[in-house]
Amino acid sequence: MDVNSPRKWDADYERKTDGWDLGGPTPVFKRIIRSRQLIPGRMIVLCAGRGHDARQFARHGFQVTAVDFSSQAAEEMHRLASPEAPVEILQHDIFTLPEPFNLSFDYVLEYTCFCAIDPKRRAEYADLVSRLLKPDGIYIDLAFPLDGRKGGPPFAVLAAEVLDLFQARGFKLIAREKPSESVSPRRHAEELFLFQKSSNR
Ligand SMILES: C[S@@+](CC[C@H](N)C(=O)[O-])C[C@H]1O[C@@H](n2cnc3c(N)ncnc32)[C@H](O)[C@@H]1O
Repeated sequence: MDVNSPRKWDADYERKTDGWDLGGPTPVFKRIIRSRQLIPGRMIVLCAGRGHDARQFARHGFQVTAVDFSSQAAEEMHRLASPEAPVEILQHDIFTLPEPFNLSFDYVLEYTCFCAIDPKRRAEYADLVSRLLKPDGIYIDLAFPLDGRKGGPPFAVLAAEVLDLFQARGFKLIAREKPSESVSPRRHAEELFLFQKSSNR
């Protein structure tokens, strides 16, 4: 089935072939929030799935918009919504987010979104991240899977490709690490990148 169609993803949620879902927030994001290294601000979570990460940031003061084009994912986000973690839930294709979203986020967060989209659309994806972020905004990318696998989704990601895509758009790499708390099947196959958009784009 076509990864560009929400029907593919709806079918995965319906058939419970949604093994990407960790059932709660991603451990390295919990640590980043605890460390207070990121000042709460406006964040968009791309391909948010059930919204565990979106709610975790919202619970700690971030003003979060969670986007996913699957009706099943959006329904799940509504079902799991909590007043302590207010999230704006948007059922929408990330590639056609409306213009008023341009330059309006302090943070863009992705985990298992970049690897879920059609690899031919990766340059378009990087343009999207750039247009969503405010000048000096931060792109938080937990890149997975860095294991050179064939086929997908998830489609393999190369660290060099991520660096090229964002540095070519004027982003500065401000941190990278292989998180020690990655869940065991993903340990050594993911890397966290923090990029800062330039102040004059
Ligand atoms: C592998 S899942 C990851 C979900 C979530 N990030 C997580 O970690 O649980 C990929 C998600 O991306 C969504 N998705 C894929 N392409 C999309 C697009 N173009 N626009 C919006 N959502 C998309 C799918 O509906 C699916 O929920």
